[in-house]
Amino acid sequence: MTSVPEQNIRLLIVDDIQSTRDNLRKLLSFEDDIEVVGTAGDGRQGVEEAHRLQPDIVLTDVNMPLMDGIQLTEQLTQDLPSSPVIIMSVQGERDYLRRAMQAGAREFLIKPFSHDELVAAIRRVYALEQKKGTFLARTTETQPTSAVARSVAGEVFVTFSAKGGVGTSVLAANLAVSLARETNARVALVDLDLQFGDIGVMLNLDYSRSITDVIDAQDRLDAETLEDILGTGPAGVRVLLAPLSPELADLVTADHVRTLFTELRKLYDFVVVDASSHLGEVGLQVMEVASRILVVTALTIPSIKDARLTLKVLESLNVDPERVMLVVNRADGYSDFNKEAIEQNLRVPVSGQIPYDPRAVGESLTRGTLFVETQPEAEISRAVRELAFRLVPQEQPALAGADRKRRRGLFGR
Ligand SMILES: Nc1ncnc2c1ncn2[C@@H]1O[C@H](COP(=O)(O)OP(=O)(O)OP(=O)(O)O)[C@@H](O)[C@H]1O
Ligand SMILES: [Mg+2]
Repeated sequence: MTSVPEQNIRLLIVDDIQSTRDNLRKLLSFEDDIEVVGTAGDGRQGVEEAHRLQPDIVLTDVNMPLMDGIQLTEQLTQDLPSSPVIIMSVQGERDYLRRAMQAGAREFLIKPFSHDELVAAIRRVYALEQKKGTFLARTTETQPTSAVARSVAGEVFVTFSAKGGVGTSVLAANLAVSLARETNARVALVDLDLQFGDIGVMLNLDYSRSITDVIDAQDRLDAETLEDILGTGPAGVRVLLAPLSPELADLVTADHVRTLFTELRKLYDFVVVDASSHLGEVGLQVMEVASRILVVTALTIPSIKDARLTLKVLESLNVDPERVMLVVNRADGYSDFNKEAIEQNLRVPVSGQIPYDPRAVGESLTRGTLFVETQPEAEISRAVRELAFRLVPQEQPALAGADRKRRRGLFGR
């Protein structure tokens, strides 16, 4: 569900078959927000026209004389990065998919595609391109926060993994409670795994209000309404649950999330978000407001591969690397990988290592408790607290405002 842009999306069509170009033009003429500003009959002409017209999007065929669609993509990705390319190809040319993506294509449409698929792809690529601008120039400079009254917006920390099951939910929940315990700050925990969120069961919250209620109250969302919708977990952490049923997930849009986080940041010093492993518009929206994105990985090859892809996406969105933290979960001594190997492989420092502790985690999941609460002395709890400390450096006024005993607790265990 991508919002319709106010300005027209200026499109260049490149295809060697005249009737295809005409059909595409006709198909898109029904869309108010898309304007075909030019066409070209081969790759070389396509590059020339792209330079002349500076379109928002280039839609190109693969097989063409003089210069094919892959070469065109390569060239435009280099010369005109603000004119992203969508490639069209027929079934059976699947090898092109890989090559097209390597060349820098943003989308790949398999012919025959529907009118809806085409329009959706154009809008999606355009929206992402627009979003890139707003990601720019965000600093990690942390604002002073106060546990008493908020004059500045609170900070958002997102846990994310493109691979499911690596422990982002376990980490988010324990991190939120750790932050609340150790800093005395006001902390909210938001379950943005909208289809299959686990935070409710993890905290054993028998509660019937969720993010769906936030949407219902969208037009009159204020502090009081929001506070009413949130449940309460350990250490006073306020919790916003995912919809109670998976099919309600689609109701939540990036716009809802934007409004929600504006309100949450007024109310809480820290908002910890458990993001879904699906990187859609909701996830991107919350990453946009996050001061830290914790990319969680396990020590397995598929998980490290996905972490690499995630880091690449964040880089392509111009997210300041300072905002990205790599966290290894389920770290044990038996894996082929260690911290150094991962750092070398991903070229990003590991900011936190949460040990593999099936007993502590399993027990807390069965009981609906959190190990940072029930086993504060365990190595795994210490590691989570250390991560909390990294997110909220000592100089933070939130810590200065906390009582000294608690503050020592952050480093002493
Ligand atoms: N540090 C750990 N040590 C041992 N087991 C762990 C650890 N962290 C998570 N687990 C186990 O991994 C499983 C997945 O954890 P969790 O639900 O937090 O992952 P997730 O990334 O949120 O998964 P999903 O994609 O389903 O949302 C859980 O069953 C949990 O018991
Ligand atoms: Mg989860």
